Amino acid sequence: MDYDLDKARQQEQLYLMANYSRLPVLFTHGHGTRLWDDTGREYVDFVSGLGACVAGHCHAEIIAAVARQVSQLIHVTNLYYTRPQGELAEMLARYTFADKAFFCNSGTEANEAAIKLARKYMRDVRGEDRYEVVSAFKSFHGRTYGSLAATGQPEKAEPFHPLPPGFVHVPFNDLAAMEEAVDAQTCAVILEPIQGEGGVYVADPPYLKGVWEICRRNGALLILDEVQTGMGRTGALFAHEHYAVTPDVMTVAKGLAGGLPIGALLASADAAQGFAPGDHGSTFGGNPVVCAAALAVMTILQEEQLVENASRVGAYFMHSLLELQRSSAAISEVRGMGLMLAAELKESVAKETMLSCLERGYVINNIGDNILRFLPPLSISTREVDGLIEVLGGLLAGGRQKGISGEA
Ligand SMILES: Cc1ncc(COP(=O)(O)O)c(C=O)c1O
Repeated sequence: MDYDLDKARQQEQLYLMANYSRLPVLFTHGHGTRLWDDTGREYVDFVSGLGACVAGHCHAEIIAAVARQVSQLIHVTNLYYTRPQGELAEMLARYTFADKAFFCNSGTEANEAAIKLARKYMRDVRGEDRYEVVSAFKSFHGRTYGSLAATGQPEKAEPFHPLPPGFVHVPFNDLAAMEEAVDAQTCAVILEPIQGEGGVYVADPPYLKGVWEICRRNGALLILDEVQTGMGRTGALFAHEHYAVTPDVMTVAKGLAGGLPIGALLASADAAQGFAPGDHGSTFGGNPVVCAAALAVMTILQEEQLVENASRVGAYFMHSLLELQRSSAAISEVRGMGLMLAAELKESVAKETMLSCLERGYVINNIGDNILRFLPPLSISTREVDGLIEVLGGLLAGGRQKGISGEA
């Protein structure tokens, strides 16, 4: 092997900025729900590139779509028309509440664009001077300044102050707090239907419906950040469908192109009027290659009934985690929906548990010290879930002495 983990670590130390704490694995290839490292070791993937590879790794139809597009036309910018962008916008309009799309390259960019759209809409379309954005504590909307200011985790923003003004945070699932925060200054409320990075906290159905009503009553836009919950993850194409709530604006990224970088801002025809030529843009946004990939992902979700699989296997997975909670006493709570699940541990051993799973060929994620998160490809099977549950059962039953310390 002319390239291995040691070489990758050496390069990181010499040439990469120190903003990630990476795990000691060098992945070299993937297929479906499986990944392989540089030593040839096989893993079952319960992270899917943090929720991006919804159709699994290296799906043949995505490869074919990308190869076809790459050999025809890679890039021209948004000064010109390209077919995949128009077709993707039409497809998203067909399958969502939205009438119009703007494409960018990531979730944070989609949220940045959503905030700009809301402020501009209020000024130009409504003729009102409203600029405040209300979001929830424990939310995560991204790392650029607008989306970071919206993110309700002050410790993430603190080292980068001053933040742009006009952002207010309220506790999640607290309708009274939302009622108090939204007023004639509010241009938009931005929420995740399920808070992902914050720890997998699911919005109560009356809460989301109540927020929608508060927005309507006060003339504010409702922006749903479906960057993590979208593209079938929760067992519906978009999570707000479970709630029978229709936002004015939605942001999507992660799973949209199955692992290639894309973001989308989707809006009703009314809200979309906020943007006029020159208001916003992106060199690569809506690039023909990623749009071709996204079109292939939509086709795969339908052909392979992956949204239905997320719902069915997700329910099985949730049930299995609840069984584990009953039998092991190490889990304090199981949360989530579809294939966006978390198990909160009573002890602060989430990182050790995640590392022990990795050693045993299961890729899972931890949030902080005591939350395990699972975001597998939507094609994951009940057998693969059984395999992980067996490993987790052994680790959690053994506690620190067996497995969790990494030595068993
Ligand atoms: C809900 C949500 N919004 C926004 C983002 C930021 O997306 P990106 O990392 O693509 O910029 C994330 C990323 O985890 C997310 O989960």
